Amino acid sequence: MKKPDTVPTTSAIILISGYGTNLQTILDQIISDQLPIKIILVLSDNPKAYGIERAKKSGIPTKIINYHNFTNKADFHQSVKNSIKKLDPSLIVLAGYMRILSRDFCHQFKGKILNIHPSLLPKLKGLNTYQRVLESDDEYHGSTVHFVTEELDSGPLILQYRTRIRPDDNPERLKKRVQHGEHQIYPMAIRWFAEGLLKMVDGETLLMGKRMTRPKVLEET
Ligand code: GRF
Repeated sequence: MKKPDTVPTTSAIILISGYGTNLQTILDQIISDQLPIKIILVLSDNPKAYGIERAKKSGIPTKIINYHNFTNKADFHQSVKNSIKKLDPSLIVLAGYMRILSRDFCHQFKGKILNIHPSLLPKLKGLNTYQRVLESDDEYHGSTVHFVTEELDSGPLILQYRTRIRPDDNPERLKKRVQHGEHQIYPMAIRWFAEGLLKMVDGETLLMGKRMTRPKVLEET
């Protein structure tokens, strides 16, 4: 008997600002049937983001809302919010999106926004984490998938990739290893969400109905 086609039910919007390697991994996994989501839009605040080309090559609708065309920040945020709201996605994936989301946006899509941040949160929130970790005494660096809340890089943690810092590391080398890990953990967390295993409830992460007190960790092998 013919296997019935599985219809992905999780509609996702991906927000990007740049190169889009995480986006590419997600696209590849969808194509190879490893990720049961449908991307309904890739939105960028940066008209030069290469990720837009990646989306187009895969036949995904794209939209650019150029941050620099707005004199008023609030209007930019409103425009992003309206474009997303009318598509009513089940999931919003931040994949290198370099704008801070408005409180209103976080509230509107509460529990539906995932981000990946290149540090072992709660350590090193904000920018330049590779440089900053190399200037610190930390033994490890990595990346974290988390739910997005109003506080920057502070939402409930889900999954981390961890790599040991090496004596000959520089920011570029470290970034390469961390991004290799990101391409494993981000699709994994997105899959959990799409399969209904992962939820944010009362400001906490629930995995298979169990409250997570700390993120799952995938170690570099
Ligand atoms: C990722 O490394 C992620 O940690 C950060 O932005 C970067 C985006 O990279 N949030 P890419 O555009 O997916 O290559």
